[in-house]
Amino acid sequence: MDSENLVQRATEAREHAYAPYSSFKVGAALLASNGGVFTGCNVENASYGLTVCAERVALWKAVSEGARDFVALAIAGPSGKETPPCGACRQTLAEFGLGLKVFYRDSGGRLVRRRLSALLPSAFR
Ligand code: THU
Repeated sequence: MDSENLVQRATEAREHAYAPYSSFKVGAALLASNGGVFTGCNVENASYGLTVCAERVALWKAVSEGARDFVALAIAGPSGKETPPCGACRQTLAEFGLGLKVFYRDSGGRLVRRRLSALLPSAFR
């Protein structure tokens, strides 16, 4: 699966975002080495701190279904907003490998491609 297809899966997952407080809807798609794709969306809560990001929802789904070896992650946020993964998601993803490719769009709609190792230098593992 190429990066644009993975971004498309993230964009579709974004449709399910539950974001009544921020109205900032995010989707994520995590590609496992066996070809499986696990999607997620952000799920907010009236107790704001309990909100979970799209990336971690995708990761929880993947790990809970036995996947641990990941190739790439695509993130889709609101158009015109750059949506790289937050720090908490970077750290959570780092648990499973810093070689992960991460794709997201910048504010101009261009696809940004970064290794997790570049997004989280000096990672604690
Ligand atoms: N959010 C994500 O889902 N992923 C990110 O990487 C950044 C932030 C969500 C959390 C919250 O529901 C909303 O975006 C605004 O912060």
